[in-house]
Parts: sequence; C-alpha cells; structure tokens
Amino acid sequence: MVEHAQYLAYLAGEWQASQSQETITIQSPWQSEPVGDIQAVTQDEIDTSIAAAQDAQKPWAALSLGERGQYLNQWADNLAANKQALAEIEMAEVGKNLKDAEKEVDRTVDLIRYTVQEALHMHGESVRGDGFPGGSKDKLGIIERVPLGVVLAISPFNYPVNLSASKIAPALMAGNAVICKPATQGAVSGIKLIEALADTGLPKGLLSLITGHGSVIGDYLIEHPGINMISFTGSTQTGQRLSQKSIMIPLVLELGGKDPAIVCADADLDTTVSNIVSGAFSYSGQRCTAVKRVLVDDKIADELVAKLKPAVNALTVGSPDANNTVVPLISDKAADFVQNLIDDALAKGATLVTGNKRQGNLLAPTLLDNVTEDMDVAWIEPFGPVLPIMRVPSTDEAIRIANKSKFGLQASVFAQELDEALKIAGGVEAGTVQVNGRPERGPDNFPFLGVKASGMGTQGVHNSILSMSREKLTVINLKSVKQGG
Ligand code: NAP
Ligand code: G3P
Repeated sequence: MVEHAQYLAYLAGEWQASQSQETITIQSPWQSEPVGDIQAVTQDEIDTSIAAAQDAQKPWAALSLGERGQYLNQWADNLAANKQALAEIEMAEVGKNLKDAEKEVDRTVDLIRYTVQEALHMHGESVRGDGFPGGSKDKLGIIERVPLGVVLAISPFNYPVNLSASKIAPALMAGNAVICKPATQGAVSGIKLIEALADTGLPKGLLSLITGHGSVIGDYLIEHPGINMISFTGSTQTGQRLSQKSIMIPLVLELGGKDPAIVCADADLDTTVSNIVSGAFSYSGQRCTAVKRVLVDDKIADELVAKLKPAVNALTVGSPDANNTVVPLISDKAADFVQNLIDDALAKGATLVTGNKRQGNLLAPTLLDNVTEDMDVAWIEPFGPVLPIMRVPSTDEAIRIANKSKFGLQASVFAQELDEALKIAGGVEAGTVQVNGRPERGPDNFPFLGVKASGMGTQGVHNSILSMSREKLTVINLKSVKQGG
C-alpha cells in the first residue's frame, strides 16, 4: 500500500508548499485510501516559475548536447533504480495494473536514453543560393536548429509518467526550459518522475512542476506570455480550448480517438481477434489508441463475433494489484459515461454479446453487436471497456464509416490480401494505419500523430525534438570569386 503523504510542488528549483495553503487530495480510483495531497499552485507561483525558467534556459542552451544528455541519462538511471516504487504509486493513483505500470517506467527509461542519442545525432544543413533562379553560389546559408524558450508540457492521467517524460526529454535536449503540468489524477506519479530528474542536480529553475486543477490554472498557463510552445496530450475538448486560447505560439496536440478495426472477409481471424481484444480492453480501454469500434465485413461477422465472445470473457477483471486486464475506471463519472453509451445502444437495438455488468467504477468488458449509425457508441470515445461492432457490406462502406468520425488517430486493417489492405489504408483518414496489428503509439521512434479532432503536429522522439526547436538561418555572403582569371 502506498503511504498517504503530503507532496510539495517543484517551483523554480525548490520543493515548496504553495502559498495558497490549499492542497488537493488524490483518491485512488480502486482503493478506499487517498494516495496523497498535492499543492494547488497559485498564479504568482506560476509567474515566478516561468521567470526562473526564462533565466535558466539560455545557460542551459549554451551547454553542449553531451552535457545536457548527461543529466537526462542520470534521470533515466534514477528512474530505473526507483522503478518498483514509481510503478506502485502509478498503480495506486491511476489504477493501471502493476505489470503495465512497470512497463511504462521501462519504456520511459528507454525513451529518455533514446532521446539523448537522437539529439546527439541530429544535425543541421547548409544550402547555396545558386539553386534559385538568379541566385548566387556566393551565398551560403547555414541552417541550425535552436530552442524555442520555455515549453509548457501538459499531460493526461492515463500515462502520467511516459507522456510527461516524452515531452520533457525532447524539450530539454533541444535546449528549452520546461513548465510541466501533470493531470491532477496522475500528479503524484508526475512528482515522483520530477524528483528523479531534480536529483540529477538539474540547474535550478530550468524545470518547474505546477500542480493544481487545469480548470483553475490551465488558462493562466496557456495564455502566459512567458510560454513559447505548448505540447499537450489529453481530450479533444481540452485541446480545442487550448488552441483557441493560445495565441501565435507553436502547439502540438495529441487528442482523443475512435480508432476503427476494419476486418476484411479474408482476414486471419485468430490474429484479428487477439489484436482487437488486447487493443480494445487493455487498461480497460483507457488508451487513446484503443480499438474503439469494429467495422467487419458482413460475410465473416458471425464468425468474428463467435470468436471474440470467448476471448472477451477470458479477460481478467478486477483490481490492478492482481494484474487484471480490465480494472476500475479512473472515476465513477467515467464509468457513468461508459454506462450511458451502453444503455443508449441497447435501447436503440444493439445486441449485447457479453458484459454490461457493473460494480461501482469497475465495468465488465462489454461487446455490442449490430451497432448502427444512430447510436452514440458508434461515434463517441468511451475511454472504457466497451467495443461496438458495426457490420458493413463492403470495404467502401467500412472506409465511409471510418471517415465519418470526427477523429483520425489510428486505424487497423485486418486482411491477408496486402493490395486490398493497402488500398483501405490509403482511404482511411488517420495519422497511422496498422495492417494486421492493433493501434498503438510505439515503438517511440515512429512518428505519432492524429488528424482531424485527434490532434495537430507530430510526436515520436525525432519529431518531438523538431517541434520543440526551430530553424535558424545564418547567411554568409562570400566574397565573389572572379571566374576566368
Ligand atoms: P483532459 O481532461 O483533457 O486532461 C488533460 C490535461 O489537461 C490534464 O493535465 C488536465 O488537468 C489539463 N487541463 C484541463 N483543463 C485545462 C485547461 N483549461 N487548460 C490547460 N490544461 C487543462 O484528458 P484526460 O482525461 O486526462 O485524458 C484522457 C483523454 O486524453 C482521452 O480523450 C484520450 O484519448 C486522450 N489522450 C490522447 C493521447 C494521444 O496521444 N492522442 C494520449 C493519451 C490520452 P487536470 O487533470 O487538472 O484537469
Ligand atoms: O493513450 C495514450 C496513448 O499514447 C497510447 O499509447 O502505447 O498505449 O498505444 P499506447
């Protein structure tokens, strides 16, 4: 059991209780005990933290990449050494099962180390002016990448360690300072992540961890003139608000999804079923990349459903400390939301294949067949363990329904005929299409992006470094070299 403790905020290089004298108690979504109390940071403290970040950024950017990388590698080492404690806190705080929480810490350690290596191997370019009509070879442009200044990193509850570190590491390697705002439910894990970074002796002020409700301090952070770039992961609703409020600063948004699994008549059904079930139900479907609908060819729909049902029934359901796949949702409100989607579909004629049982915020994995376009569950992201199946007469119809969604994060196509799979992949509006595999963000050296309401800009290590830096061109006007003596 994790001890209920008072956690300080990390502001301008010091661990501090907030002047607000207000704390927020974080309740575990599955244990009756609170996980800890975090600070409700004030606007004045945000101002001080951003000013300190601005002061610390230039000397940080002046360090060599290798020097910056040493801090980050030490951070990775500290996390690896504290893996067990961090995974247990994450399990208590966001209800992720212990095995997955440990994997998240491992993945984060790898991501930080990879980010250091990637930054070390990135380089600028040079260009001569004579490539353009009338241009001259005497103009030599040197293109470097320079930092943006102070990056605001806002992360969601479902990957409180990895989705904070995957913003902080590239921001720091690119030479920026960072203001990190973790999800409130997830902030204790975020604090532990930052403790491991602060313990490297990181220059004071370079990074601050601002805790507090996004609804209270979010707008102030987003609109703060000291912020030069925002990297946000979270819901489409919050992302849209952010894009309306931030003015003329670069934004990367990784938002919600409604990833379809398109199952063609020739699909290998065993591969399809195992990918759909793990894709839809791991961590109770609380992944942006979860499979959130199945669009299956009529001809094999009965067979698919017959194979999906026992696979879903075989999922383990219960508390995260017993490594169950389906665990209590992040809140009762989240469980109510999913239950409403199930109720709406059943009232409109969907067939319940299995599930629709509930104990508080623990919902049994639920499979709904014969879902139609008039049902909310066909379009809304549940972020919970319900999977709607829509039967389609053709691949064209599957593509039409896939693209009717406002979201466009990822999609899967299950087919043995590669030409057909690639044709469908080409027609689906999504950041990524997986052929014969479940949607997922990793490996983290791949670009990761959503289109339409699923996001803006691209993550993945290389792209994150690019998005947190900009090009700077220096033109050397060479002395003209006289031709022909
Ligand atoms: P959320 O409610 O949008 O919260 C995300 C973050 O935004 C939290 O840190 C939250 O703080 C903060 N926030 C809230 N209001 C804000 C405001 N006005 N200004 C600035 N920040 C504000 O999302 P969530 O429930 O944590 O995460 C689930 C959602 O994230 C799902 O839709 C999921 O699909 C999406 N997601 C997407 C990806 C991706 O990569 N595409 C990855 C993971 C999750 P508080 O916690 O204090 O409210
Ligand atoms: O919802 C978080 C999103 O980034 C998913 O990551 O690795 O579970 O596909 P992953």
